Amino acid sequence: MTCSRLRLPGAALAATVLVTGLAGCATETTTTESGVELVSDGELTVCTHLPYKPFEFEQGGEVVGFDIAMMDLVAETQDLETTIVNTGFEGIQSGQSLNNGDCDVAAAGMTITDERARVLDFSDPYFDATQALMVPADSDATSLEDLSGGVLAVQQGTTGEIYANENAPDDVELRVFEDLGLLTTAVATGQVDAGINDNGVLYDFANTNDDVEVVAEFDTGEQYGFAVRKDGNPELLDAINTVISDSQEDGTYDEVYAEWFGDAPAG
Ligand code: ARG
Repeated sequence: MTCSRLRLPGAALAATVLVTGLAGCATETTTTESGVELVSDGELTVCTHLPYKPFEFEQGGEVVGFDIAMMDLVAETQDLETTIVNTGFEGIQSGQSLNNGDCDVAAAGMTITDERARVLDFSDPYFDATQALMVPADSDATSLEDLSGGVLAVQQGTTGEIYANENAPDDVELRVFEDLGLLTTAVATGQVDAGINDNGVLYDFANTNDDVEVVAEFDTGEQYGFAVRKDGNPELLDAINTVISDSQEDGTYDEVYAEWFGDAPAG
């Protein structure tokens, strides 16, 4: 279902205004003084899909990670608290979660693609990625071709699933997993012959798991973007883009990067 919302001109607003939506949709949004529309007053509500370590994952009962830290920076500039909503990646990348009013912004290590840009409004790119291949440590496979006759784990709705569909040999069975945790476990326990996903998360997993190895990267040239509702929240998008560029200029981005990747970004 798609939802449309009534919007009142920002200038007429003092602090927050209740806006009534249509039946079946989240019924209220509030608008801050700077014109940012929010599904919940005083909060930047963020949709993500866990776990996607080190971008978003649970640690000590809290959701943390690179994306979350970036969202905290955005929330700070708007005097908001960050609230995390964990929801399926399919709903995030299809625009459904945002259209439903489940959240204001999606931060999910999500690759900017033309197809998604039709249903979401992406921020400027904030992170580069490629697809990568992870195998059990005792495997000899180093390419998709080597998996011939075997099973390759993919994550539902992701660019890795698309890449595997387009590039794996026909006799490779693609097994679809709902999240990254299930996919990496399947590789580590040898339930599948290999798994495909973004390089950042697979290297992170392999670094602390001796029973797997990342053996290939495919130069897919992906870039992550945060996303807001299509044509729905230009002020929030501006605030996000400002945080991306300011943090890259003043060194905050590198600090956040070092915190979650242990190193400053290359280049
Ligand atoms: N970058 C990939 C994509 O956009 C995978 C993202 C998965 N993210 C997540 N939080 N589960 O399709």
